Amino acid sequence: MRALTWQGTGKVSVETVPDATIQDPTDAIVRMTSTAICGSDLHLYNVLGMYLDPGDILGHEPMGIVEEVGSEVTQISPGDRVVIPFNISCGHCWMCSRGLTAQCETTQVKSEGKGAALFGFSRLYGQVPGAQAEYLRVPQAQFGPIKVPDGHPDERYLFLSDVLTTSWQAAQYADIAPGDTVLVVGLGPIGQMSARIARHLGAERVIAVDEVPERLAMAGRHGIETLDFASVDDVPAAVLELTGGRGADAVIEAVGMEAHGTPFQAAAMKAAGMLPDALARKAVETVGVDRMGALRTAFAAVRRGGTISIIGVYGGQADPFPMMDLFDKGVTLRMGQAHVKRWVDDILPLLTGDDDPLGVDDLVTHRMSLEDAPHAYELFNNKEDGCIKVVLKP
Ligand SMILES: NC(=O)c1ccc[n+]([C@@H]2O[C@H](COP(=O)([O-])OP(=O)(O)OC[C@H]3O[C@@H](n4cnc5c(N)ncnc54)[C@H](O)[C@@H]3O)[C@@H](O)[C@H]2O)c1
Ligand SMILES: [Zn+2]
Ligand SMILES: [Zn+2]
Repeated sequence: MRALTWQGTGKVSVETVPDATIQDPTDAIVRMTSTAICGSDLHLYNVLGMYLDPGDILGHEPMGIVEEVGSEVTQISPGDRVVIPFNISCGHCWMCSRGLTAQCETTQVKSEGKGAALFGFSRLYGQVPGAQAEYLRVPQAQFGPIKVPDGHPDERYLFLSDVLTTSWQAAQYADIAPGDTVLVVGLGPIGQMSARIARHLGAERVIAVDEVPERLAMAGRHGIETLDFASVDDVPAAVLELTGGRGADAVIEAVGMEAHGTPFQAAAMKAAGMLPDALARKAVETVGVDRMGALRTAFAAVRRGGTISIIGVYGGQADPFPMMDLFDKGVTLRMGQAHVKRWVDDILPLLTGDDDPLGVDDLVTHRMSLEDAPHAYELFNNKEDGCIKVVLKP
């Protein structure tokens, strides 16, 4: 089968790889009809190469048709149309039974000290072959795959795999009350949908920050107030001014470790991406080469007693952290990988009708073939050609 493989930092290619086959009775094989590229794939593409091997298949936003199931898989059958959560979870362990499927104890990657295995996500998360391919082997298929109805194009349901469930969790963790003002930092797909969901959940005002014109424009189409950090000198000051000096009731940080605006850390991180693996790994894990721009915005713009929901992905641990300010402001911090399955029953009813209350139909900017995936990575990474979200059609 054909698949998009990681070959080195900033380098991916489509190769012929061994076919996906059933290995365990709890597996299923799904033929991909749509499979998206995520901002998390860009962390692998740009900086986390020390955790990947050439030939690793990327991708964790899958949707398709079930081809084959193992003997213990009864909730889906060949021919079903399914979306697959990016976390691989068993559904019956201590964590899963509490809705914490991103921490599944059956698939936890204990050798790396990490939570549940993820599709296409490096050795840190189990080195499971990813979904940017013609076929996907789905472990724990007795629980994971979500059956969706016919009637709408894939793009309506595809984002249950990650973007929608992640954004829903980001908004839930922000503890939004009716009348609140919510600040969303970053307007990639996650920020876009977090902002719309925050409004859907009752926020009176949603203000969002980015610098990419078409991303700001897309948010504007959905009733979001926008700030362009390339032209606003001091974003937290602007947020304070917009909120009568108080700050945002909640902040959703939807950028992660490749934030723009901290040139020294940017250079250090780029350098880490080029180091031999052992050194780079040490740099990422201990020196903390992250860029903190977006987090700093969140810390400074939240009101006293407010909540920060960090959904952007971070590595490293030695960053200077403004503990004194966070403590003095009495801020609540929540974060983590999305527990995809936990939110599906809340979201699915909002997708099946014709009215599209979350505006899901306005997110995808590029539909491309699997063979064009390397070009798609370039467009998405460089934010060229108005690229906000790419869906590959294997
Ligand atoms: N927690 C989870 O389960 C989960 C799931 C999916 C994605 N993510 C993470 O969410 C983050 C966003 O994903 P995405 O697909 O939207 O990515 P993306 O790369 O498309 O979007 C990031 C956006 O942030 C903007 N940005 C950069 N620096 C900024 C700054 N200092 N202030 C404001 N905006 C800034 C960029 O211009 C870009 O539009 C990534 O870190 C991704 O890994 C987390
Ligand atoms: Zn993702
Ligand atoms: Zn589990």
